[in-house]
Amino acid sequence: MTALFVTRRLPIDVRAEAPPEIEVRVFGEDRPPTGSEIAREARGCAALLTLVSDPVDDALLEALPTVRHVAQVAVGYDNVDVEACRRRGVLVTHTPDVLTDATADLAFTLVLAVARRVREGEALLRSGRFEGWSPTMLLGVELSGRTLGVYGFGRIGRAVARRARGFGMRVLYTSRSGAPAEVEASLEATRVPFEALLEQSDVLSIHAPLDERTRGRFGAAELAAMKSGAILVNTARGPIVDEGALAAALAGGHLFGAGLDVFEREPEVHPALLGRDDVVLLPHLGSATEAARQRMARTALADAVRVARGEPPAHVVPELR
Ligand code: GLV
Repeated sequence: MTALFVTRRLPIDVRAEAPPEIEVRVFGEDRPPTGSEIAREARGCAALLTLVSDPVDDALLEALPTVRHVAQVAVGYDNVDVEACRRRGVLVTHTPDVLTDATADLAFTLVLAVARRVREGEALLRSGRFEGWSPTMLLGVELSGRTLGVYGFGRIGRAVARRARGFGMRVLYTSRSGAPAEVEASLEATRVPFEALLEQSDVLSIHAPLDERTRGRFGAAELAAMKSGAILVNTARGPIVDEGALAAALAGGHLFGAGLDVFEREPEVHPALLGRDDVVLLPHLGSATEAARQRMARTALADAVRVARGEPPAHVVPELR
């Protein structure tokens, strides 16, 4: 019988949904297991269902020689050493598509929350200091007619652009390979160099994977090159933005605000950001709708079942295709 180790309780009952020929073991606690806990509990398993919080490195693969498949329950898989998996002949799959709308919704939630100072308004009201409507109170930024810059124009970046069009925004983007002409046409999106994206975006939303090319991409110089009064939103991966530099850019008054769902050293947040009123912070909720999280779990499980049955999985990560 093939055994599968799931590193966390998921919003579906994996045991009940897996076919009888697959033995499912689930980590017993609702916290990320350590590497040595995974190595111990997954001993003898053929596959792992992993999450963004589980580092899957060469040492773990070495400790688990029976593992042939890492099924990441997320679209991003920067926690998985794909090169080490390749060397060891371990398949890596992920869960694209099923969380696109959920994540784009959350990115736009942050855009609106920062632009309209939702956090400050809520806090004011709850503090009892609201004394009635004022024509000058908590004035924000209007989105209509402004420019959204999308850094990384894959599924989620395009879905955010679609939302921005509904708000009357113009869309610019950067991506390694340009989008097909029909995608650009339907979103009226224009590909520009990174420098132009920084200079022209009123709202800049990050949707690129974390890798050696994007790590630290938004540092002090890039933040200084952003349009004065712009908003930065990151729902991709924390280390793409230098949090200390972002806090400084906000403190200097160069940016209007920032919305962050991901952090450089998750779950820690830079203390200088925690204290700021112009930053909306969320605890990595991008895909956190019940439907999206269930689809993610089922997509990963379906690929684990395919691999266990000797069939090709549907969502191998691009590097291993
Ligand atoms: C979540 O962060 C994901 O990559 O799916």
